[in-house]
Amino acid sequence: MMSENDTADGTATTAPFADEAVQPSGEKPITFKISDKVVVASDPSSPEAEAIAALRTHLLSHHVDRGRRGLAVCSPSGGSGTTFVSVNLAVSLARAGIKTLLIDANLREPSLHRMIVPSRDMPSLKDALIDSDTEYGSVIQENVLPNLSLIYSGGKSSHAQELLSGARFKTLLDLCMREFGVTIVDTPASNTNADGRRIASVVRHAIIVARKDWTYVADVNTLIDELRSDKVNVVGTVYNEY
Ligand SMILES: Nc1ncnc2c1ncn2[C@@H]1O[C@H](COP(=O)(O)OP(=O)(O)O)[C@@H](O)[C@H]1O
Ligand SMILES: [Mg+2]
Repeated sequence: MMSENDTADGTATTAPFADEAVQPSGEKPITFKISDKVVVASDPSSPEAEAIAALRTHLLSHHVDRGRRGLAVCSPSGGSGTTFVSVNLAVSLARAGIKTLLIDANLREPSLHRMIVPSRDMPSLKDALIDSDTEYGSVIQENVLPNLSLIYSGGKSSHAQELLSGARFKTLLDLCMREFGVTIVDTPASNTNADGRRIASVVRHAIIVARKDWTYVADVNTLIDELRSDKVNVVGTVYNEY
């Protein structure tokens, strides 16, 4: 299903919003292409989009409406659909009128920029964490879609764990969770590094994405135990049948 902004190559573009018109001189306003993988926008009647809508409904009543503002999206192993769920869930919440922020905190294999493709580079999470002169607000891309703001990772970092363990990450996240109705955070798989656990412990609530015929149940249970021992509230597990 195509919306009026869709283009022939299956992507949709969003017009820049008022704030983006004010750019440092000579810089073009940023535009964003929405990939077909954002099924809640490209194919809202598909089974995948309907599953995301059901997840949104559950999270609204059990999480957001209870004043819980952060949600880390975690998985035991890569390729499970963590980014797919993060992005589609964030767009779905925004479409329901919730002021939503989506952060790509995967500094190992960042991929938000392939789902919502910016027309040029911009200040990123990595900048905010590395450089204490970077203002936190400058890395938030406001209203990329109505009610949806984004923080891109800014690319891979060989110091991911150090950056996410630092005080600046917690300060940024606390600020985001105060400003937005919900902040969704995409994380790397937990079987190769501890970034997902660190992110979830800052965000305090998590969902786990498991993929059919891919993720071991034992690995999901281990991750749940680890998160609980870190005092993270595990809100639920998403079973991705892809
Ligand atoms: N339910 C789904 N429907 C369609 N494509 C999916 C689905 N889940 C995952 N994918 C695709 O599978 C690939 C891996 O998913 P991704 O979200 O990048 O995994 P992870 O972030 O856990 O490594 C991507 O190309 C993604 O778009
Ligand atoms: Mg990913």
